[in-house]
Amino acid sequence: MNCLFVGAGAVAEQYAAALPESPLTLAGVCDLDADRAAEFAAARDCAAFADLDAALAETDAEIVVNLTSHAAHAGVTRSCLDAGVHVYSEKPLALDADAARDLLDRAENAGLGLACAPITPDCDAQRIAARAIGDGRLGRVGLATAHAHVGRVTEWHDRPDSFLEVGPLYDGGVYPLSLLVAWFGPATEVRVADALDTWPEREEQSPTAPSHVEATIAFADGPTARLTASFYVPHRAREFYGLELHGDDGSLSLDDAGAMTAERDSVSFGRAGREYTPMPPQAPADGSTHLDGVERFAAAIADGRRPRERARRGAHVVAICEAIETAAAESGPVSIPDCGATADPGPAPVVRPEAEQRRGASTTGVARSSAIRLPSVGFGCSRYRDGEYVDREESVATALDAGYRLLDSAELYGNEHRIGDLLAAPGAPERESLFLLGKVWNTNHEHVLEACRGSLDELGVDAFDCYALHWPDSWAYRGALERLAEKPVDAAEELTFPAEESGERATADLSLAESWRNLEAAHEQGLARTLGVCNVDREQLATVLAVANVPPAVVQIERHPYQPRSELVEFCHDRGIRVIAHSPLSAPGLLDESVLAEIAAERDCSPAAVVVAWNVTAGVVPIPASNDSEHVVDNLHAGSLRLDASEMRRIATLADPAFER
Ligand SMILES: NC(=O)c1ccc[n+]([C@@H]2O[C@H](COP(=O)([O-])OP(=O)(O)OC[C@H]3O[C@@H](n4cnc5c(N)ncnc54)[C@H](OP(=O)(O)O)[C@@H]3O)[C@@H](O)[C@H]2O)c1
Repeated sequence: MNCLFVGAGAVAEQYAAALPESPLTLAGVCDLDADRAAEFAAARDCAAFADLDAALAETDAEIVVNLTSHAAHAGVTRSCLDAGVHVYSEKPLALDADAARDLLDRAENAGLGLACAPITPDCDAQRIAARAIGDGRLGRVGLATAHAHVGRVTEWHDRPDSFLEVGPLYDGGVYPLSLLVAWFGPATEVRVADALDTWPEREEQSPTAPSHVEATIAFADGPTARLTASFYVPHRAREFYGLELHGDDGSLSLDDAGAMTAERDSVSFGRAGREYTPMPPQAPADGSTHLDGVERFAAAIADGRRPRERARRGAHVVAICEAIETAAAESGPVSIPDCGATADPGPAPVVRPEAEQRRGASTTGVARSSAIRLPSVGFGCSRYRDGEYVDREESVATALDAGYRLLDSAELYGNEHRIGDLLAAPGAPERESLFLLGKVWNTNHEHVLEACRGSLDELGVDAFDCYALHWPDSWAYRGALERLAEKPVDAAEELTFPAEESGERATADLSLAESWRNLEAAHEQGLARTLGVCNVDREQLATVLAVANVPPAVVQIERHPYQPRSELVEFCHDRGIRVIAHSPLSAPGLLDESVLAEIAAERDCSPAAVVVAWNVTAGVVPIPASNDSEHVVDNLHAGSLRLDASEMRRIATLADPAFER
């Protein structure tokens, strides 16, 4: 679709940077500074104009991208709408609420699309934050603090005049305000505001608008927010564009409300009473560009839609800024017009967990659309480690806080009640946002329903997302396995590893087919949404598939570069069965392998991250365990890494058919 850029300054360069890979074509560029327009156009092989009417008349652009200086936005948008062209405007939409509303009315009456930057509510870090809010991690959000420390524009911008004229509120302040409106809906009132003219005397140019603004803003269905927008506070200040939310059950910190990419530590969550834990991105970075908003807008226009909801949000943000100015000048509360922000609000303000789960899901190479969607990486909750038992409560809490969505549990691990306590505590994720996998132990194949109900009771949930046979082997029943973590190790092992007097394993007379049928009863009773089986070879899996009324959705096997189990993985993937890799990191010597160290050095990550990514790249879900909070976060973050074919080939050299623990 053809578009016309109006404004050829610094921000236009940022938009144009993504044009070579974009479906959009640039028909022309218009700037009052004819030389600047000509230079910009020459570099992009498009027409240059110094007059807007001429540009609109002579290009066949369907969309104008308004990249003029702040104060010119409304006038340019108005002219373009009046000429019958759809407009995508840089922020702010206008400098007062009446002008913004007028633009919306014009677009509405003319049946034209109107959209407005910023796109940051749709960027990766902000979506992680939105997901945490949507998952109910914070409970009711009572307070927000936001900083927009634009800094000394005379220091970092070659043409600061436009900034100095409008002040920090209509520039940087728009980022946190847009986010808060996207997450919580409209603000109702500026309770109190103050504006200062503080500025270094030695500077040749000074702001004509207040250089520093503070305001307390009430949201209808959200927090009371304290905003500081400043030119005086340098952009290197520690707060920069930080935004914090404080809820009844937890707090969330976003380090840069205006960021277009997400790093490992961009978002952190602090459950009430606990330290903050980073919530790393779990899917490959989208790497948003300024042009993304225009592309989405153009795609909607091409589909015959006429989007205006982003412009309504932009108009409401302008109304908040104007109310802040009024409150600062007149002191006292000022109500904020909604500007249509609640009418036809477009997409739901908060990203729903299911949508986000799809986004972060890994299904690479899995053939069938019926295959269940799983998070890229899960968390292993087993207490068993190198011949010892360890407490996992703290590490499971850290994993939940970091944003793990798949927990691998089992009655054998004996700690379901502790996981249940964590899931019931304030600040826990909502049940629907989690994938809970449980396993029936070998001694319970004739008592699957009893075992399953016991595990569900301990976890405090109605059903498992997947319930699996821990092993294909059936052993002698030794009674219900309750809270093994609270029993002495000897007593727990006597119950779980039954032996005949001879010392031989005490087995049960039950075939794998019969065990599977018993497991299916858990599905029939609604206690498990899907079923799975662990530690099988291809032949055993074929046995299950041959008798199954409910085929396995998940196969869990030990898998790491020494033991890639490629044939079995392919067999599963061909049948739409998801493979989960247990014990992905703990094979002796694995993390010291030089090939992993080399790839890790090239990728600036750890060998463990390379192994996690090796599984994820193959469409397999690793469930690493760790008691080290940095490792817990790093392993989840590694789920956003994908290895290339040559890296996968290098790691394939580690395969060892004779591998044994
Ligand atoms: N179905 C089954 O029969 C079965 C069998 C075994 C395991 N599993 C499941 O698989 C899960 C994981 O298996 P696993 O317990 O054998 O452990 P694993 O995940 O293979 O390895 C854990 C070990 O790796 C270390 N580690 C973790 N992340 C690291 C990192 N980023 N850098 C360096 N070292 C790191 C841990 O030490 P730190 O604590 O210091 O990080 C720990 O020593 C279990 O919890 C369980 O849920 C299932």
